[in-house]
Amino acid sequence: MKAIISNKYGTPDVLELQEVTKPIPNDDQILVKIHAASLNYGNLVLLTGKPFLSRFAFGLLKPKYQIPGGDISGTVEAVGKNIQHFKRGDEVFGDLSASGWGGFAEYVTVPEPALVLKPSNISFQEAAAVPMASTTALQSLRKGKITSGQKVLINGASGGVGTFAVQIAKSFGAEVTAVCSTRNVDIVRSLGADDVIDYTKEDFTKSSKQYDLILAVNGYQPISAYKRSLSPNGNYVMVGGSGVQLTEAMVLGPLLSISGNKKMGSFLQRANQNDLMYIKELIEAGKLKPIIDKTFALSEVPNAFRYFEEGHTQGKIVITI
Ligand SMILES: NC(=O)c1ccc[n+]([C@@H]2O[C@H](COP(=O)([O-])OP(=O)(O)OC[C@H]3O[C@@H](n4cnc5c(N)ncnc54)[C@H](OP(=O)(O)O)[C@@H]3O)[C@@H](O)[C@H]2O)c1
Repeated sequence: MKAIISNKYGTPDVLELQEVTKPIPNDDQILVKIHAASLNYGNLVLLTGKPFLSRFAFGLLKPKYQIPGGDISGTVEAVGKNIQHFKRGDEVFGDLSASGWGGFAEYVTVPEPALVLKPSNISFQEAAAVPMASTTALQSLRKGKITSGQKVLINGASGGVGTFAVQIAKSFGAEVTAVCSTRNVDIVRSLGADDVIDYTKEDFTKSSKQYDLILAVNGYQPISAYKRSLSPNGNYVMVGGSGVQLTEAMVLGPLLSISGNKKMGSFLQRANQNDLMYIKELIEAGKLKPIIDKTFALSEVPNAFRYFEEGHTQGKIVITI
């Protein structure tokens, strides 16, 4: 089968399309014929080996997962004898980041908990765009204790995670303010945002308006400014953005949360089958839809990475296998 191979850490130039042996599922695995995959920040970490600490999980000197690719959609081709919930022919999607990666290939073997039946009302390309970014959005909103009627601000609302976060926050009944640049205002509003702040024209931290939950998905604002923008019992959850934003949330967040009722901290997504089932139900109920910016062929994965690295994706980047 064809697969993208990464034998050393580096730039997208290290990636090569190669012919490799098609995997055979063991008793506890499912063989999936992959139709589409998508890119997430975790793919960049696996490609570059940066930040260095990630190498304790991904391999110290070279990537231990040679075929990158976390999010997939496809069709079950074969199942091991211990597999209970899937059969040949099932259409599935999943997040392989906790089970060996391998999504940038024609086939992959995965354990049962990594997969969920694909939502019936979207294409394979759309389904591949969903798992990691949508569960990041869901889990971070839950960490921020989202409830109906809350005022929620999403900073960085137009990328992979942000476009899901806006819609999921709306599905919880929140009043959503989305922060993005001028070119993304319309798309973010079409996803249901009640209010949109164009960060090229206005700094929301300079206004007196406060929010019950702030999700920092992209960009950078000082953590003290975020704290000012939180309502007295508000929660701040740092999902991503600049390295400084991450460091501040990890180091200062717990300190700033000691006095008063404002809580500030960072968050790490984990692949979770139940969460992906919840997302599937939202999609099938018409409450959530993936936004795809561009699609690339398997042979174009290096170019897909180069585009993703620029950091201006509108929604998700999908690889068609
Ligand atoms: N904590 C976790 O477990 C976890 C999991 C997944 C991802 N992440 C992190 O979450 C972040 C977002 O991931 P993603 O996949 O959504 O990234 P992405 O798709 O690459 O985000 C790109 C989007 O961010 C917008 N953006 C760029 N600069 C901005 C700014 N200063 N203010 C507001 N928006 C800005 C861009 O629009 P414009 O350029 O037009 O502004 C673009 O639409 C990344 O930092 C990633 O590392 C964390």
